[in-house]
Amino acid sequence: MAAAVLKSCSAWRVLCSLIGCLSSGATVEQFEQAKSKLSALKKDPGNELKLKIYALFKQATQGPCNTPKPGMLDFVNKVKWDAWKSLGSISQDEAREQYCNLIGSLVEAEGGSSAQVAATPAGGGATYETLLVSTEDDITTIKLNRPAKKNAITPEMYNEIIAALEQAAKDESKFAVFTGAGDFYCSGNDLSNFTKISEGGVQEMARQGAELLRRYVRAYIDFPKPLVAVVNGPAVGISVTVLGLFDLIYATERATFHTPFTQLGQSAEGCSSYTFPRIMGPTKASEMLLFNKKLTASRACELGLITEVFPDSSFQSEVQTRLKAYARLPPQSLALSKQLVRSVDKERLYAVNDAEVERLTERWTSEECFNAVMSFFQAKAKL
Ligand code: COA
Repeated sequence: MAAAVLKSCSAWRVLCSLIGCLSSGATVEQFEQAKSKLSALKKDPGNELKLKIYALFKQATQGPCNTPKPGMLDFVNKVKWDAWKSLGSISQDEAREQYCNLIGSLVEAEGGSSAQVAATPAGGGATYETLLVSTEDDITTIKLNRPAKKNAITPEMYNEIIAALEQAAKDESKFAVFTGAGDFYCSGNDLSNFTKISEGGVQEMARQGAELLRRYVRAYIDFPKPLVAVVNGPAVGISVTVLGLFDLIYATERATFHTPFTQLGQSAEGCSSYTFPRIMGPTKASEMLLFNKKLTASRACELGLITEVFPDSSFQSEVQTRLKAYARLPPQSLALSKQLVRSVDKERLYAVNDAEVERLTERWTSEECFNAVMSFFQAKAKL
């Protein structure tokens, strides 16, 4: 796993040489500025650089690593500890200087980057780093915008989606549409979330993840207007399970629907343990949720998971024509009808969400999950 976390060594070597070229000590003020610049970075610098930043920060503020080595299974803290320890006895001044130079080079490297475009929702004011959100023709569109990572969902993105849904609930739109940038709809939870540095170890990471997941799924349960998914490509994990909380789902024929939870030592979320058996019957749901069966778009449509499948070549134009026609319907009637349907089992959905989150909190700290996530990154590192 450590090898996987550290896989982009060449980038790091370039940065190291950059740091080597930079000179002069950093003041406390420059250090503070670097800290705030770090939180303003638009692009995720990747695990390796984040570990380096963490290590330099610890060395700069506390001196050489002097805490006991965490156990093998305490993966996150072990990787953090290794990174800090690897700095040896460099002085706090030197660490501060390297920290400032590293953040400076990351900020500089972002200059002119348009990999992720912030968007301002009409009538809103909020901006998003990981989403493109717009309101047009009475439709608010929320587009996941990390195409290089197949729109895998980071904690920042979970929070932004919650905010975008809250915004869309209040804006003038008649319904909200979810879609993805690039060739994927979404590859589910970003698996590197499991390797993220967090004070308090694995238990704390699981607790925070659980709270975020609970709020995330609740945002779908509570959304008061019709929710439409325009599935522009393959969908994995939580992007599939929450589909049971949507009102209308159009997919390109290229789309697939995959929930590899047990493969990853995890368990179902997004209320799918309740919605999927209701939608497709218990044995078909189990084939997906327990045995990782991947559905084609046409099979997902036969099973009732999605509404309709379109040829890829005409997908966007046909769907847009439909949506524009729906947007001429009276807004109150649309919203009230949606709420009527949802009210039937809203309390049940809250309870299912809570139970699923509780189960996952335990799964995230399990050895099965640890090994599965490790295998994913090890396989990637070997490519
Ligand atoms: N978490 C973290 N990174 C992910 C990711 C995820 N869920 N899905 C894709 N990525 C990253 C890949 O690591 C890769 O990053 P890199 O370019 O830095 O190496 C990049 O996105 C492109 O993905 P890649 O695997 O090269 O594309 P692909 O077309 O061969 O495969 C997937 C796409 C989605 C099938 C494959 O990446 C995958 O299986 N991802 C994991 C999906 C998953 O298990 N999600 C959680 C469900 S609970």
